[in-house]
Amino acid sequence: MSAIAGDDPIALFHLWFADAEKSEPALPNAVALATATPSAAPSVRMVLLKEVDARGFAFYTNLESRKATELKANPQAAMCFHWKSLHRQVRVEGRVEPVGDEEADDYFATRERLSQIGAWASKQSRPLEGRFELEKRVAEFTARFHVGRVPRPDFWSGFRLVPHAVEFWQQQSFRLHDRVVYHRRGDAWVTERLYP
Ligand SMILES: Cc1cc2nc3c(=O)[nH]c(=O)nc-3n(C[C@H](O)[C@H](O)[C@H](O)COP(=O)(O)O)c2cc1C
Repeated sequence: MSAIAGDDPIALFHLWFADAEKSEPALPNAVALATATPSAAPSVRMVLLKEVDARGFAFYTNLESRKATELKANPQAAMCFHWKSLHRQVRVEGRVEPVGDEEADDYFATRERLSQIGAWASKQSRPLEGRFELEKRVAEFTARFHVGRVPRPDFWSGFRLVPHAVEFWQQQSFRLHDRVVYHRRGDAWVTERLYP
C-alpha cells in the first residue's frame, strides 16, 4: 500500500472507489453508518454514499429517522466500507454536518420520481401498522404530486461526515494485512501504520 498511500486520504479514497465501481457486483457505494445516542448506545445501518470530496462523505435520509435523531443529538459518527471483491475496507470517523438545502434539492431532483414519492410517503423508522398503510400513503402522495416536479420534503435531506480519521485496510496473506490511518492535523493529514 505504501506505493499508493499519498498524503491525501480523499484522493486515495477516490482511487479505491473507482476500483470498487469496476469490480463490485452491486452497490459499491453501500456503507455501514454508525451513530450513537448521547449516552453512547451505538446503532448501525447501511446507507448509500452519494458524494465524496474534500468536505467529506455525504448521504441522504429522512430527518426524523432514528439515525438522524441520533445525529442531531450527537453528531459523532463512523462509516465502514467493505469491498469484498477487492479485499479492502475503509473506515471513516468524524462529525456530521447537515448538507445545504440547495445541495439537497439538487440531489433530490436527480432521484427517480417513485423514489421521490417514496421519500414523502415513508415515516422512516416509525411504527407501521401494515404494508397497506404504506401503500395508501404512496397513493396519496402520487395523487398530490400527479403533475410537475416533486419537491423535496423538508424532513428529508443529507448529512456530510467530515472525517478526522480515515483508515485504509488491504488484505494480505496470512492475515498480515496492511493498515494505514490518516489523522487530520489542522489543514493537513498525518499517516500512521497499524499492526493488522
Ligand atoms: C444497501 C442499502 C442502502 C441503503 N441506503 C440508505 C440510504 O441511503 N438512506 C437511508 O435513509 N436508508 C438507507 N437504507 C436503509 C437503512 O439501512 C435503514 O434501514 C433506514 O435508513 C432506517 O435506519 P434508522 O432507523 O437507523 O434511521 C439502505 C439499506 C441498504 C441495505
